[in-house]
This record gives sequence, C-alpha cells and structure tokens, in this order.
Amino acid sequence: MKKALCIMIGLLITTSHKPLLAKTNLHGLVRSGQYAKGELRTTPQPETAKQSVDGVYIVGTYPLYTPELPPGEGREMTQGYCNMCHSVTYITMQPPLPATTWAAEVFKMIDTYGALIPEDETKQIIVYLQSHYTPETRKNTK
Ligand code: HEC
Repeated sequence: MKKALCIMIGLLITTSHKPLLAKTNLHGLVRSGQYAKGELRTTPQPETAKQSVDGVYIVGTYPLYTPELPPGEGREMTQGYCNMCHSVTYITMQPPLPATTWAAEVFKMIDTYGALIPEDETKQIIVYLQSHYTPETRKNTK
C-alpha cells in the first residue's frame, strides 16, 4: 500500500512539471537569422534592435548577395584588388566614412593585412572609394 502511494506521489510530481519543460521561451535563447533577397547596392545598416525584455534575441535578415559597386573610374581596380581577400560587401556595409578614413582603410589593408597593391593603383582606389562612399558622396544609403 505504501509503495503504491509513493508511486502515485511520484507520478504527480513528474506530471506537474510538464508545462515547465514544454516552455520554449527560455531565457537567453538566440533565434537564428534568415537570409533574404535585397536590392543591389543598398546594404542598409541594421536597424537598432529593440531591447528584449525576456532575454530572447532575434537576429535580423542577412543580405544574400554581393552588391555591385557603382560605376566610375577605378571601379574594376577596386573590385579586382579588394576581392582578393574578401568580397566588396566589406566596403558597402560600412556606414558612410570620411575621405581620410577610406585612405586609412586601404593603407590598413596593405600595411596590416599584406594586400599587394601597387602605389599608383592604391591612389586610384582611394579616390574611387572617396568618390562614392563618404557622407557627401554616397548616394545609395537608405
Ligand atoms: C590581403 C588581404 C586583403 C585585401 C587585398 C583587402 N583586405 Fe580588407 N580586410 C582584410 C582583412 C583580413 C580584414 C579583417 C577581416 C575581419 O575582421 O573579418 C579586412 C577588413 C576590411 C574592412 C572592414 C573594416 C576593417 O578595417 O576591418 C574594410 C572596409 C576593408 N577590408 C576594405 C578593403 C578594401 C577597400 C580593399 C581594397 C583596397 C581591401 N579591403 C583589400 C584583408 C584584405
């Protein structure tokens, strides 16, 4: 009789915990992002996410494409040299940067990461980036 009572109590405890185990909104859960189509040359900066109240973080959409760089003198050179190590999305995903920052970026690629870009081409690439990706010259920011 005592044994049966123990089993009954045990079952009661186990089943009463079920709703807790079935809960999916656990704290600290990170939902993965999804890939989505986007317009060319318009990689916008991600929107500032709302603060999560329950510790569930949701990653926004990732662009699925490598954007085309705007036409202009130095475009092919920029694509050729910068694509050697990474896609040109690294350029377009930056917020509009001041002209001096773009020059510093290119020299960082050469001095720190060992990009092999001849001096003449370096100058042309910097001019290209400054003509399309500064706050004054960038046309395609959303
Ligand atoms: C020799 C390889 C190499 C070449 C060539 C190269 N990069 Fe990079 N670049 C890197 C590395 C490595 C990083 C850092 C990657 C990371 O942190 O994920 C980087 C990162 C960047 C970033 C992100 C910001 C930063 O400073 O980390 C920008 C912008 C960038 N590169 C622009 C360029 C441009 C413009 C060119 C062409 C002139 C270029 N890269 C060519 C290796 C290279």
